[in-house]
Amino acid sequence: MSDKKASLSIDGKTLELNVYSGTIGPDVVDVTPLTGNGYFTYDPGFVSTAACESKITYIDGNEGVLLHGGYPIEQLAEQSDYLEASYVLLYGELPNKEQKEAFVNKVRMHTMVNDQMSTFFKGFRRDAHPMAIMCGVVGALSAFYHDSLDINDEKHREISAIRLIAKMPTLAAMTYKYTIGQPFMYPQNHLSYSENFLHMMFGNPCEPTKVNPVLARAMDTIFLLHADHEQNASTSTVRLAGSTGANPFACISAGIAALWGPSHGGANEAVLNMLEEIGDEANVDACVARAKDKNDPFRLMGFGHRVYKNFDPRAKVMKKVADEVLGELGIDDPLLKVAKRLEQIALEDSYFIEKKLYPNVDFYSGIILKAIGIPTSMFTVIFALGRTPGWIAHWNEMHAGASRIGRPRQLYTGPAKRDFVPLDQRD
Ligand code: CMC
Repeated sequence: MSDKKASLSIDGKTLELNVYSGTIGPDVVDVTPLTGNGYFTYDPGFVSTAACESKITYIDGNEGVLLHGGYPIEQLAEQSDYLEASYVLLYGELPNKEQKEAFVNKVRMHTMVNDQMSTFFKGFRRDAHPMAIMCGVVGALSAFYHDSLDINDEKHREISAIRLIAKMPTLAAMTYKYTIGQPFMYPQNHLSYSENFLHMMFGNPCEPTKVNPVLARAMDTIFLLHADHEQNASTSTVRLAGSTGANPFACISAGIAALWGPSHGGANEAVLNMLEEIGDEANVDACVARAKDKNDPFRLMGFGHRVYKNFDPRAKVMKKVADEVLGELGIDDPLLKVAKRLEQIALEDSYFIEKKLYPNVDFYSGIILKAIGIPTSMFTVIFALGRTPGWIAHWNEMHAGASRIGRPRQLYTGPAKRDFVPLDQRD
């Protein structure tokens, strides 16, 4: 199974460990025999831990490479579209013409949600954060599909994947409409995936919706750029939840919750809030100084990445889309000037150069979303929608192979065993 071996000497004992090679990327050392010998590995933040084997996505953080099914993200963004990229994530290959048509049609046939779903929304305050609503309503989908929740049945897993990809735009738009007190818009299945989303977001029942094709294409590219990113925090959450046998809707809801944090998907919202707070190019230097101050927890939102230590290939595409959208809409957003100045200073500053902190995907996406008219609080919902095929592809891959429940271990540093002290004898 493995030609290469690693040996680990510990307490006078030598353990021989298998080393496996992937198609590309670093080799991995199989540490599973350690437990039987009384040791665990220690890797807080999973910086050096491969938690699974996967064929879906490959990242080379030093070279700024992101591949889905082997296809570079730049080529997919330029020549493909979101649903085709989703197909690659789910099935591992580009679809032929018939396969693509069949897949797009299947997604189209599942865009509507059960009418009972609308009553769940009424339980939320109108000013609830959209991500709070999304965690709830996506998890609630579990209650509607008892007929197809057998995670060991390939067909059940496939229909759940299609349902999730199809219904996420509908639920995301319903969330927005609820928070602004407008009626929910039904999906229109003659529209493309992204057109449909913009129609449900910005249409109203009183007049036909006109969707700007440039904005629909930009939306599609934003979804595509977020579609998957191998074993990031939210995907690992989906896998861990899935490893218990939990149903796919509950697992994706767990992924949405993990994505919400500002170190992950919540960063796109945090970037725009930060740019608005800076307000003017003249204030950029002070903001950079704060980010560099060891005693100040403030960080430049939209900068840095656990894996990319050169550049984020998604950010390059995103920057181009930002120019296209702002050009189409004729917007001269002062925040863009602040963003460009911030980027320039950070890229020239030794602190950011030494720590390899570059603009990430979230740095430009907020500016585009704002120009399209999407409110800041919905930004992370857009990320969640885009990431859904990646989450569900990983969940499916896990169940298609032999999987065990995920159960990390720990380095225990709490008190050793001691006797209970009755209340009247305590100091
Ligand atoms: N601004 C200022 N300093 C930073 C930043 C930043 N944005 N990011 C990292 N650093 C510093 C950090 O203080 C640390 O310095 P030192 O070595 O002196 O202690 C060093 O760089 C390494 O940081 P780290 O926290 O150990 O790095 P990490 O790999 O654990 O964290 C990160 C990666 C993305 C959470 C972090 O860079 C960050 O908080 N960035 C801002 C939030 C953000 O934009 N997140 C979106 C990520 S891309 C979308 C996604 O994948 O969800």
